[in-house]
Amino acid sequence: MENRRPFISGNWKMFKTGPEAVEAAGKISMIVADVLSDIDVMIAPTFTALAPVADKLEDSPVLIGAQNLFWESEGAYTGEISAEMIASAGCECVIIGHSERRQYFNETDESVNKKIKAAISSKLIPIMCIGETESEREEEKTFSVLDKQIKKGLEGLPSEELKSLIIAYEPVWAIGTGKTATSDQAQEVHKYIRSLLENIYDADFAGSVRILYGGSVKPNNVAELMERKDIDGALVGGASLDPETFSKIVHYK
Ligand code: PGA
Repeated sequence: MENRRPFISGNWKMFKTGPEAVEAAGKISMIVADVLSDIDVMIAPTFTALAPVADKLEDSPVLIGAQNLFWESEGAYTGEISAEMIASAGCECVIIGHSERRQYFNETDESVNKKIKAAISSKLIPIMCIGETESEREEEKTFSVLDKQIKKGLEGLPSEELKSLIIAYEPVWAIGTGKTATSDQAQEVHKYIRSLLENIYDADFAGSVRILYGGSVKPNNVAELMERKDIDGALVGGASLDPETFSKIVHYK
């Protein structure tokens, strides 16, 4: 039986200092508390804010995510942060392969694969981001692009290791642009992703993986997206920065 708890998450990108993040996280945890028995809510502050936000949310079920990690467990890798360090800062989740990392920081499907493995070995919930660019969509390559991102991203990982996996479908042309995919476009792709997971693994696994939509999710379009059969949640950028606006998204019902 398919039983996928809704997952609404905020990616704060490179916004908010530690104190600003703590203040916003504290507000969010209060104003979304009424729905946390039914919905998973996650916020992903920047690295330097993770530990203080985790302290602030110690008694709250709101989940904390990092926005990236490095796959090695330790070593001479100046400027990098391991899965273990993220987990010990109080995070439960980590965003991997966000399109901004693919675009500006040379993230590849191969590095995404190593990062997912590292996240799993530190018991972090990996949120694997995939999505096509505008030109790929225009050239009708959406499905083949996603196919490659998923197969390479999950290479060598059996379904037993991927029990916590979350996939975020984020069409690059919809991120930060105000252009949301229509709920029909998003549902079509989410259904495709689920069928792909069924082909690679099996129907039980495909039916259990939560697939989030990301790209200009706002209070006025979230409900329509969340009504669709294969859309299990949202990864929200810009609209997650203001606690009141994010709370409206969390209260989409
Ligand atoms: P956006 O970003 O909501 O600002 O479009 C989404 C994301 O990058 O996760």
